[in-house]
Amino acid sequence: MIIVSNLHKSFGSKAVLKGVNLKIYDGESLVILGPSGCGKSVLLKHIIGLMKPDKGQILIDGEDITKLEQTRMDELRMRMGMLFQSAALFDSLNVEDNIAFGINRHTSLSKRAVHHLVSEKLEMVGLPGTNYLMPSELSGGMRKRVGLARAIAMEPEIILYDEPTTGLDPIMTSAIDELHLSLKEKLGVTSIMVTHDMKSAFRVADRVALHYGGQIVEIGSKEEIMNSQNPLVQQFVRGEAQGPMTQL
Ligand SMILES: Nc1ncnc2c1ncn2[C@@H]1O[C@H](COP(=O)(O)OP(=O)(O)O)[C@@H](O)[C@H]1O
Ligand SMILES: [Mg+2]
Repeated sequence: MIIVSNLHKSFGSKAVLKGVNLKIYDGESLVILGPSGCGKSVLLKHIIGLMKPDKGQILIDGEDITKLEQTRMDELRMRMGMLFQSAALFDSLNVEDNIAFGINRHTSLSKRAVHHLVSEKLEMVGLPGTNYLMPSELSGGMRKRVGLARAIAMEPEIILYDEPTTGLDPIMTSAIDELHLSLKEKLGVTSIMVTHDMKSAFRVADRVALHYGGQIVEIGSKEEIMNSQNPLVQQFVRGEAQGPMTQL
């Protein structure tokens, strides 16, 4: 279980996280919605230990990761995968070496075994045979899927998806959602997904949270969110220009 409590983070004078509280249960898929720039990516980067908060805690199975030393954090990181919003591929490495980056760093598998594993993950994200392409040869949607293959390469227990389907066509979006669901159902993966795609959100979520103004302002089952009387939730879910939610 992941417990985020009273998380605060500012950049200079700009307060981005202002007391985020959130619980993610083992095996669940939590979707986080929220307007652009409200701090969703910053929150995910804290959960995976890439950013340190100014205040607050993140407990993963009871361990406060905001206070861990590097070696222990590295061990925990092996159990987690993250698909970054920008895919964050290394431009100088081909697709296979990008996906195998963590595997090569943390295991001593043979080149052949690594190739096999990478090919299997590429197959899963619908990009078979692209092992030796360079990132510059990929479209935005392909980069995203390579980023996803890298996120799942080490078969993590926890996966953080930052806008996994932005820029993908509807067919590829469904395929990625199905992969997300099958990782959850077959392997019991716990996940947090940030998205602006309501269809995708409601397809994969067990629970949905709304992040706004530096806090989680609402969290509940899909039904609870759909029927929420909170005007912020209503405006966001219906995608209305007029309402209480101001542009940041
Ligand atoms: N490393 C950083 N340094 C300074 N400001 C940052 C950094 N990362 C994010 N921010 C700022 O934090 C705010 C939230 O960013 P982000 O989490 O990326 O938003 P989103 O909800 O769209 O994912 C933005 O104003 C962004 O400019
Ligand atoms: Mg973001």
